[in-house]
Amino acid sequence: MKAKYTFNENLSVPKHVAVIMDGNGRWAQERGKKRTEGHYEGLMALRRVAIAAHKMGVKVVTAYAFSTENWKRPLSEVNYLMTLPKSLNDDVLPDLMKNNVQVRLTGSLDGVPKVTQKYIKNAIEKTHDNTGLIVNVAFNYGSRHDIVEATKAIVDDVQSGKLTTEQIDEALFAKHLATGHLGELSDPDFLIRSSGEVRLSNYLLWELAYSEMLFVDTKWPDFDEEVFKACIGEYQHRQRRYGKTGEQIETDE
Ligand code: FPP
Repeated sequence: MKAKYTFNENLSVPKHVAVIMDGNGRWAQERGKKRTEGHYEGLMALRRVAIAAHKMGVKVVTAYAFSTENWKRPLSEVNYLMTLPKSLNDDVLPDLMKNNVQVRLTGSLDGVPKVTQKYIKNAIEKTHDNTGLIVNVAFNYGSRHDIVEATKAIVDDVQSGKLTTEQIDEALFAKHLATGHLGELSDPDFLIRSSGEVRLSNYLLWELAYSEMLFVDTKWPDFDEEVFKACIGEYQHRQRRYGKTGEQIETDE
């Protein structure tokens, strides 16, 4: 990755980084390997990024591991992707434990094979008492579906008298989304998508409203501490305005 800015240890880092881990298939095909090997290498890249992020003081990394649309892929690839939570347990969890990392889930386990559910739940339980970085795995997740489900839950609460319409605001809505468990950290400060594709693919549509975004050519399996640091270096030179002018932000600082 050609970095415009280098990481500066004296500048602040984003608290929550969301990643779209794209390019696994192409990475593998370029090397004459099966697409599934690219996904496994993608999991290894997630381990490197999680440990680097933890060391840098990032609080949450939300990683798009399997979208609600990924069910449309060839069955053999879907079946392989469903085995990755086992690889997460076998090959990644020991290092995450050593680094005090917590695993959490954003998404639904409905329709996910029982054995896959077991490994996801196990990773969450095993790391439950850790206090470091949260690796928030977006699995069987789609943002439009999530927004519809949150809306239904709120409507149910209004109909049963638990809530009044006047009580519905942005904070209440955010709590009902699949990232609600992250509390005040639920909105990513920074989104990174690898492999040169420039789209959101139904990812965190509500939560990304004010996030800084970076689309890099590097394919996900090539991500490591150096590439991640270069991405954070780019973030450190952004000015977050939230609708204000640049001059107002400079006066605020
Ligand atoms: C998109 O690349 C990537 C995926 C659909 C899967 C990503 C999953 C991982 C990296 C492993 C993480 C798993 C867990 C359980 C934490 P692509 O296949 O669309 O790549 P392409 O565009 O080159 O074909």
